[in-house]
Amino acid sequence: MQTRRVTILGSTGSIGRSTIDLIAREPERFPVEALTAQSNVGLLAEQALSLKAKCAVIGDESLLPELRQRLAGSGIESAAGAGAIIEAAARPAEWVMAAIVGAAGLEPTLAAVRRGAIVALANKESLVCAGPLVMREAALHGATILPVDSEHNAIFQVFDFKAPDNIDRVILTASGGPFRTLNLSEMREVTPAQAIAHPVWSMGAKISVDSATLMNKGLELIEASFLFPVPEDRIEVLIHPQSVVHSLVSYVDGSVLAQLGTPDMRTPISVTLAWPARMPTPAARLDLAAIAKLTFEVPDFARFPALNLTRQALQSGGSAPTILNAANEVAVDAFLNGRIGFLDITRIVEQTLSRVPSGPLGDLAAVHEADGTARRYAAHLIDPTDDDRVVRVQTRGRNRR
Ligand SMILES: NC(=O)c1ccc[n+]([C@@H]2O[C@H](COP(=O)([O-])OP(=O)(O)OC[C@H]3O[C@@H](n4cnc5c(N)ncnc54)[C@H](OP(=O)(O)O)[C@@H]3O)[C@@H](O)[C@H]2O)c1
Repeated sequence: MQTRRVTILGSTGSIGRSTIDLIAREPERFPVEALTAQSNVGLLAEQALSLKAKCAVIGDESLLPELRQRLAGSGIESAAGAGAIIEAAARPAEWVMAAIVGAAGLEPTLAAVRRGAIVALANKESLVCAGPLVMREAALHGATILPVDSEHNAIFQVFDFKAPDNIDRVILTASGGPFRTLNLSEMREVTPAQAIAHPVWSMGAKISVDSATLMNKGLELIEASFLFPVPEDRIEVLIHPQSVVHSLVSYVDGSVLAQLGTPDMRTPISVTLAWPARMPTPAARLDLAAIAKLTFEVPDFARFPALNLTRQALQSGGSAPTILNAANEVAVDAFLNGRIGFLDITRIVEQTLSRVPSGPLGDLAAVHEADGTARRYAAHLIDPTDDDRVVRVQTRGRNRR
């Protein structure tokens, strides 16, 4: 039994809590170096105490006194702020779960990558907004990036990395989200509460809305193009409402390999946690006879324009995916706060992508520049009069909620 020291970035979120659930079952095998959260100080302290973490970091600096008080007498180090989260990622854990939501996860993820850690990557936005940079740094520092997204984790399990020329296509499955069967006028009226009630998966608010617009699948298309050596035009999306087949790889000889399972993120997380071995999980076993029927359909690109937008951004390259991601974060936030309608999300992304010029993405400064410009532009589209909000939205993506 191999011991692996772990850090969880975003330990209080949906992925973070599923990761804690697995680690708590084998605490001697997975000693905890650091845990981080943004504002849920109560849960962060509880997790740190129960797992005897070495360090707990809260993003919101105003919550540091409370964190200290909750950890008093435990010997657990504490810190606060966006910089402290990056420092937590740089601490010596062999395995790091990158589960912060949004582009805010980029720099902590990079910190883990730059010291050659095994990085379990749930934070797809860091690959979307800075894919070339993250992959280059991973190669330079010998980091191992293991995909946590159930689709990419499935592909990872059946992809022949030794002979990628034998691969014809990669097929990403998508549940289709809660509005798969609604028409456009019904979609115009949907509320945030309906959008975050995913029919199959239980997830954080942002990814749930992304699943409802299918932007999540578009972000995954970009993510897949960085993780797997396959040209973009050979990566397809297939709607599969039951979410049992998590994705497929089609080979030149006509064989199609897929990974199946019940929709429980503890399975893909465990694949990365025990990698290259496997470990038992409490995920429900798949009972195909009980399910009886699996269905598949092509996506409707007219009702879900996010799929074409993301492909366009991927084909444009440079900072176009960064711009798309930033505009989407601002628009999803505005939708969740009741400031825009559901269909406005992709409209704002589309307008930002078409108006903000993209450029080369050489370094982190270029990522921040493109991200900031797109956030300001998208916020301006949402409310042209509120300059103060423009600044706040920009900050929120980086280090505050
Ligand atoms: N949920 C899933 O099933 C799933 C599946 C595949 C991929 N993913 C990806 O995994 C990532 C996390 O998703 P999730 O559903 O777990 O999200 P979530 O439930 O919203 O959790 C997000 C985590 O990040 C922390 N956080 C939020 N804003 C932050 C900031 N500005 N700086 C530092 N930390 C911040 C949160 O802390 P607080 O709790 O204190 O706010 C929380 O710990 C996303 O990139 C998502 O696309 C999720």
